[in-house]
Amino acid sequence: MNFIAKHLHLIKRSSVHIARVRSLLPSFHGLRASRLNGLGVHMTALARAPVMQPLPSRTALATGPRAVFVPTIADLCAIYQEDVNLVVLSRTLAPSVQSVVRELAAGPDFTATLRVYAPQPDLSSLPFADHERAAPLLADMTCWLQAFCELFDAEQVGLRICHSRSVMCPRFHIDRVPVRLVCAYSGPSMQWLAEPDVDRSRLGHRAGGLSDEESGLIRRSDAIQQIPPQAIALCRGDSWPGRAGRALVHRSPANLGDGSARMVMTLDML
Ligand SMILES: [Fe+2]
Repeated sequence: MNFIAKHLHLIKRSSVHIARVRSLLPSFHGLRASRLNGLGVHMTALARAPVMQPLPSRTALATGPRAVFVPTIADLCAIYQEDVNLVVLSRTLAPSVQSVVRELAAGPDFTATLRVYAPQPDLSSLPFADHERAAPLLADMTCWLQAFCELFDAEQVGLRICHSRSVMCPRFHIDRVPVRLVCAYSGPSMQWLAEPDVDRSRLGHRAGGLSDEESGLIRRSDAIQQIPPQAIALCRGDSWPGRAGRALVHRSPANLGDGSARMVMTLDML
């Protein structure tokens, strides 16, 4: 949290902001070399220079926050751009991860939360940690929690993994956190609304008990967008300093009705 507050000050001075974001990159490259190898991430793209976009003009800020789709892990730094509230890195899970995820998907529902110390991550209390082929999945989760901590200069992270056949968060909402990483290991990932497509005055109880589709929250019929499965999504919440009222509006996808489960990991700052 303090780190973001510090960045907020830097963001206001664009040249300093860009320099600070770039200074994070050697750490990401270290992660690439030591921990990301073979985990199904876009490895070749990681070696490229980051895709940094200019900070927004006043006109851009007036149109509201926006989503950015990025090609490399290093580009997740785009979350620090002032007008961005969603950064998405598409990827395909390694076959070894997909294999264990498929096996878990056939099993019972579970939810687990734990506090993880990134320099020495211990995921042994997760319900599937003893599965004989869990190692690639645990390594993938470890990679992302360490990248998350690297990005936000944190040592600990709150990890939650939920495997469920029920809809987790069926209504469009915002999160009361600074930022959250979301990854759907199995099943569809979350749905979201671009800023021009959402009427924030209809969020929560102000919907008057009407559904998202009836309340006027969604400004046009084809507005609902979906994060690709397995992608890494960084979502700004309402507690990002100075950006209240501009958090990502999102929800869980509807149940497919075929008994299939979603397994979703979320990471929060502590
Ligand atoms: Fe949420």
